[in-house]
Amino acid sequence: MTTIVAPVPPAADQEFKLTADDFERIRKLIYQRAGISLHAGKQAMVYSRLSRRLRETEHNSFADYLSWLERSSGPQGEAEWQDFVNCLTTNLTAFFREEHHFVALVEDLRARAARPMRLWCNAASTGEEPYSLAMTVVETLGLSAQMKMVCSDIDTKVLASAQRGVYPADARGLSPERLRRHFFRGTGANGGFIRVKPELARLIEFRSFNLMSTGWASLGEPFDFLFCRNVMIYFDAPTQRKVLEHMHGVMRPGGLLYVGHSENFTESRDLFRLRGKTIYERV
Ligand SMILES: C[S@@+](CC[C@H](N)C(=O)[O-])C[C@H]1O[C@@H](n2cnc3c(N)ncnc32)[C@H](O)[C@@H]1O
Repeated sequence: MTTIVAPVPPAADQEFKLTADDFERIRKLIYQRAGISLHAGKQAMVYSRLSRRLRETEHNSFADYLSWLERSSGPQGEAEWQDFVNCLTTNLTAFFREEHHFVALVEDLRARAARPMRLWCNAASTGEEPYSLAMTVVETLGLSAQMKMVCSDIDTKVLASAQRGVYPADARGLSPERLRRHFFRGTGANGGFIRVKPELARLIEFRSFNLMSTGWASLGEPFDFLFCRNVMIYFDAPTQRKVLEHMHGVMRPGGLLYVGHSENFTESRDLFRLRGKTIYERV
């Protein structure tokens, strides 16, 4: 990474001081761990997300916290690294976000329904995306669809929330019909919340997966469908290319890759051919 780091704004009213050196250290660490390129100008975001961790671990400065983190090892060290990553990921998502993908998926599912299918939704955040996919599968092919879905994220906190499958009853993107068909409505202490029905959840295997990992072989049989949306925007071009090569390796020829609205991989046409709006076919 060669981005020039802007000066850190004065922070007279802040509990901790985030120096330019601290910010640079944090940028390097999150890049090494998660592939995330934190741009200059993200100091306020880093401050607000990590200062809580300083308080919780009783450190008085970012420098002390970072040195402690870098020295940490064993299961406790791994847990702290995970917290560090969890703090710095951005998890914005919604049910049926970028709806045109779900419309396209209906046809793509029908075309492949004759044999068992596998779908991987990575960088799935709090689960709205994989459950939207599961709803689309069930609505298109019924409850007996021959579909296995893997849902993953690097952030263990959002993954746990995805696995719980509990959302506010007024969650964006759900029609009244889908609310009735696919969710239980909470009562009493659970009033105001909805929970995904088990027949939807049973289609999905949840697991943590870092797109920077070398453990791609552990994902098993090749995928027919791969959703990797709104995460590659956080990666630089060489990292994106590496991830695309790995994704190519875990997909069937002719498999479909769905990406976020501002992600464009036409330069990797040796791996993926553009098939529709932000939908690529594995070569
Ligand atoms: C903005 S959310 C996108 C959520 C969903 N895919 C969507 O489009 O609505 C980005 C997600 O990518 C995850 N993420 C970031 N770096 C990752 C990595 N190296 N490996 C796997 N997931 C990562 C974050 O934890 C976060 O949940």
